[in-house]
Amino acid sequence: MSKSIINLQSAENQQTLTITPPNTGLSLQGTLQIPGDKSISHRALMLGAIAEGETIIEGLLLGEDPRSTADCFRAMGAKISPLNNEKVTVQGIGLGHLQEPSEVLEAGNSGTTMRLMLGLLASHPDRLFCVTGDASLRSRPMSRVIKPLQTMGAKIWGRNNNSLAPLAIQGQTLKPIHYHSPIASAQVKSCILLAGLMTEGKTTVTEPALSRDHSERMLQAFGATLDIDATTNSVTITGHPELTGQKVIVPGDISSAAFWLVAASIVEGAELLIENVGINPTRTGILEALEMMGANISLENERVITGEPVADLRVKATQLKACTIQGEIIPRLIDEVPILAVAALFAQGTTIIKDAAELRVKESDRLAVIASQLGKMGANITELPDGLEITGGKELNGAEVDSCGDHRIAMSLAIAALRAKGKTIINGAEAAAISYPEFVESLQAITLE
Ligand code: S3P
Repeated sequence: MSKSIINLQSAENQQTLTITPPNTGLSLQGTLQIPGDKSISHRALMLGAIAEGETIIEGLLLGEDPRSTADCFRAMGAKISPLNNEKVTVQGIGLGHLQEPSEVLEAGNSGTTMRLMLGLLASHPDRLFCVTGDASLRSRPMSRVIKPLQTMGAKIWGRNNNSLAPLAIQGQTLKPIHYHSPIASAQVKSCILLAGLMTEGKTTVTEPALSRDHSERMLQAFGATLDIDATTNSVTITGHPELTGQKVIVPGDISSAAFWLVAASIVEGAELLIENVGINPTRTGILEALEMMGANISLENERVITGEPVADLRVKATQLKACTIQGEIIPRLIDEVPILAVAALFAQGTTIIKDAAELRVKESDRLAVIASQLGKMGANITELPDGLEITGGKELNGAEVDSCGDHRIAMSLAIAALRAKGKTIINGAEAAAISYPEFVESLQAITLE
């Protein structure tokens, strides 16, 4: 464990992470358990809340985002045990029985909480709901879910011509639609499918490329009837199913594993074993991209746990080479672009990432923020309208950088700092707790002088 190299200072609600690699460089060795998958954690809490009976969730992510989901559903009547243990129980209240909350629902920093929940709220007749979030979430586009919900008959009001939170939702009986989404977004798809749960008839979503399918898998496990047409990327849900509480075992989050996959690839002599990682094919774009870059990653002990494929990942350092990442792979690695940009800094040649304009409306404008913050460290990185161009091989220098309140930026900068010359100071490091509260502790545990 190395606190002289990796030091975290807290003052009030803010944290500063300082990383000072020794002049001789550092090494990364060990075995890691990563926190539960954020997407699956949200869905397990939500479906548990609206199902009949008890849902037991093991391996839940105890990060800030699932806490927001749990608090919202508690405010609407679900009994959810405290999120202080990875085993959480949810006493469901049954489909259609979400209560009108007496307070504004607070989704915090979590786009998944707000967008998925909107599908459920809009379809609960005779109840009024108000939803808000932090400054980042209040600036993120909600029209992508509000517009299709309005086509189903939903009544939703918000700032900026009904596109930004805070939002007010007057629940209605909705009508089914076939929605052709212009973007491959699991949040949009899931929102409409959840609205379809409460809607008589068949509701279909077609997306231009396949986004993560955790909702489809879990809805089926809870008893919903889904028709999936893989040739057209379409999912159809039949309204008014009987949902029954389940036992859900949440695998480790591949988006969190990604930081270690890149760290061990770029630090000379490193070797890490990351246990129990979800390898759902709609999420493994990061493995394919790193493979294209020549990374040395092997999958061990592959198994299926409650409907989701899982493996242990072994990664060893190697010289990476540049590649081009674009097209249908983008939705399957959408959250990993910041850490892929870090990998590209240590690859031979110029890496191009395209078709990723969606990153501009994540927790921050990730294209602008990663380019500007890595730029401060001397990186050769250029922002494109829909991506990044990164030329590897230039030495990084420690600098004072900022997460801009974005968890994945905070952790990506920390991994870049492992290979920088001198001290890097990362302000806003507390953001990591959104998806990975033990990130710094794990980094200290695997870092050797
Ligand atoms: C998520 C979907 C993705 C992803 C987000 C979580 C989900 O967003 O970026 O972190 O749980 O459905 P989009 O599907 O909107 O791209």
